Amino acid sequence: MNIITDAIQTTIGSLLKEHQQIKKELDLLQSLMEEKNFPSQELLKFLNNLKTLTLSGHHEKEEKILLKWMIDQNPNADGAIISKIKKDHQELDAIVQRILERSEGLEDELTNFLQLYREHIDLEENFIFLIAKGILAASECEYH
Ligand SMILES: [Fe+2]
Ligand SMILES: [Fe+2]
Repeated sequence: MNIITDAIQTTIGSLLKEHQQIKKELDLLQSLMEEKNFPSQELLKFLNNLKTLTLSGHHEKEEKILLKWMIDQNPNADGAIISKIKKDHQELDAIVQRILERSEGLEDELTNFLQLYREHIDLEENFIFLIAKGILAASECEYH
């Protein structure tokens, strides 16, 4: 392990922890959506906080540290899945923005957001993080 692979290992660990937190917040968002007074001010405030306090930092960490490192390691491989992850981030941001800016069709947008975000986490945990760990394991062999 060198300083960079250590940092990547640590980053994957913290991204996984953040996913646990995000999943809880998605569940909470879903229960706020299922309340009778939907869409409540509470829900919109919660969604805004989720976006600005949690998701923007999380997505930035994924793109600027993990995905950037993966592309540097292997510029030609994994391009399609890395593009999909980045596209998801943009789409998720756009959905939240639409929800916060208008008053109609919110339930469909929110349902779409919850589904896309949960699929997105699965894709990262079952593919991206595993590919990254594979690259880490391979580079560890090179140093020995
Ligand atoms: Fe992500
Ligand atoms: Fe993530």
